[in-house]
Amino acid sequence: MREIVIAGNWKMYKGLNEVLEFCAEIRAQLKGKELCGVLPILAPAYPFLAIMMKELEGTGVQIAAQNVSNHNEGAYTGEVSSAMLASLSIPYCIVGHSERRAYHSESDEIIREKIMALLTEEIKPILCIGENLDQRNKGETQRVIMEQLEGCLRNVTLYSPSDMMIAYEPIWAIGTGRTASGEQAQEVHRMIRKWLAIRYTDELADGIKILYGGSVKPENLERLLKMPDLDGGLIGGASLKADKYLKMIEIALDQVAGRNS
Ligand code: PGA
Repeated sequence: MREIVIAGNWKMYKGLNEVLEFCAEIRAQLKGKELCGVLPILAPAYPFLAIMMKELEGTGVQIAAQNVSNHNEGAYTGEVSSAMLASLSIPYCIVGHSERRAYHSESDEIIREKIMALLTEEIKPILCIGENLDQRNKGETQRVIMEQLEGCLRNVTLYSPSDMMIAYEPIWAIGTGRTASGEQAQEVHRMIRKWLAIRYTDELADGIKILYGGSVKPENLERLLKMPDLDGGLIGGASLKADKYLKMIEIALDQVAGRNS
């Protein structure tokens, strides 16, 4: 059975004091707690990666970077390489977020290079894909998703389902309060899994975790997690408050308990 992932994407929010306060609340609730079948992840801004790795030790929360350079090393002022992330033992990194595609002109090819750089360092990419509202309204969702998968994963070898995750994030649902219905998300998640089975193997397609992102919050998480191909959330706004983040972990734990009973 695939684990349920509760991944918080903090984007460009929180300074040091807020980071430390959040970590203290997480430690108080999660230290020593069994998180069977649930994988919590938090992606802070670069300056806080190492601090959070240390602050959240023993809580089960894993740390992700929000971005990485497509270059290995060199005169690239302001960039951070996959080797640098690996030297901090960062296990995950978000790539291809629609905000980076939109505001930093990231193409599928650049995202593909970033994925390659991360896999070389054994960091697991969380690859974001998703259509915009115009594309959905024109019935182009499937084409857009397939093109992004083809482009971002061209010549990318995956050995195990745990090598990477995919996050389906319809752009029209990000930060808008408008969530995809469970059925809308499920339809795309199924499509992604089918594509993975053809491109890779059935085993890889069955095991890879596919997250949904776009206005996920405690109030809608339970119904989303009922979808068979939806393995958790990549959560922006609602992950910034410790109580909401912890609530979503509880909901995921209940979901796992329900499956096992
Ligand atoms: P949101 O963001 O939960 O605030 O919609 C999701 C994301 O951008 O990953």
